[in-house]
Amino acid sequence: MQLIIEQQEPRLIAAALAEQFDFASADAQCMKACYNALLSPDATYVFFSRYAAINGFAGPLVARLASAIGLSRGTFIDQDEYPDIADKDMLVAQQVFSATIDEFGDAGQRGLTHRTLAQATVEAAAQFAGLSRYRRRELAQLPGTYQPLLESFIRDYQGEVGNARRLVYALGYHLASELRADREYALIDEVFLHSSWGKDFKAWLNEHKRVSLFGEALPSWYWVATHGHYGGNGVEWQHFDAALVAIRGARRYSPLPIAEFDTLVAEGFGDFIRLINDTFILLAGECGAVAASEEAQV
Ligand SMILES: [Fe+2]
Ligand SMILES: [Fe+2]
Repeated sequence: MQLIIEQQEPRLIAAALAEQFDFASADAQCMKACYNALLSPDATYVFFSRYAAINGFAGPLVARLASAIGLSRGTFIDQDEYPDIADKDMLVAQQVFSATIDEFGDAGQRGLTHRTLAQATVEAAAQFAGLSRYRRRELAQLPGTYQPLLESFIRDYQGEVGNARRLVYALGYHLASELRADREYALIDEVFLHSSWGKDFKAWLNEHKRVSLFGEALPSWYWVATHGHYGGNGVEWQHFDAALVAIRGARRYSPLPIAEFDTLVAEGFGDFIRLINDTFILLAGECGAVAASEEAQV
């Protein structure tokens, strides 16, 4: 992860990471899940229900990582300062925490949480599919096959108070999660709203810019578009940039040898990429199976 230090331009760093960690394959897994989601309205619902369910853990986990770093007083220190003012953990934590502020209250949406906004998109997909109450309850169950992925996601993202190796690894994990999310939301926006593939759902969304939920009219697509959108960047790009600043700070004040620090960041980064690829493979399979079972019933 020397490149994060040598290169200051986030776009060039992102391009180098994309090359090194085979983002072409990761994009293909994400696209496959999106296209399978368009095979039927029920599959569209399953896609958004699952993606929202799994991503909904990211915000609280980022907060946990920021907290774990902040609580690790004196793990990241400036050796040139007096011991009583040498700790820099909160400077690193600040850059992680900045990525989750909107999760707990989006300034552009009257302080609604991103989970509430994600639920509005799930509700939109459910209304689009015209699901019966029984069918929705049936499809809403997260299959057990996702459980091992969720468990490692939760375990690896949050770091561990006072454990420099786990924290540095988690910083790499966090960096990958922000960079992949920037790409994923942009791909989702592209496939569902800007391609000829998703014309039914797109037409439905154009007619239903808001859905009625929790006694309010909530935006149907804001949750996707604010994170990343076709032809541009959303907040995930800012989170990625802040994660780079966090890693530079952690590296500067690292208690670990630099070679070990860089290896741990790369390991965390690579492990997140594997996790999200495996998640999209499962999701593509599930969406494909839902669409196929509907076809068989017709
Ligand atoms: Fe978010
Ligand atoms: Fe983010």
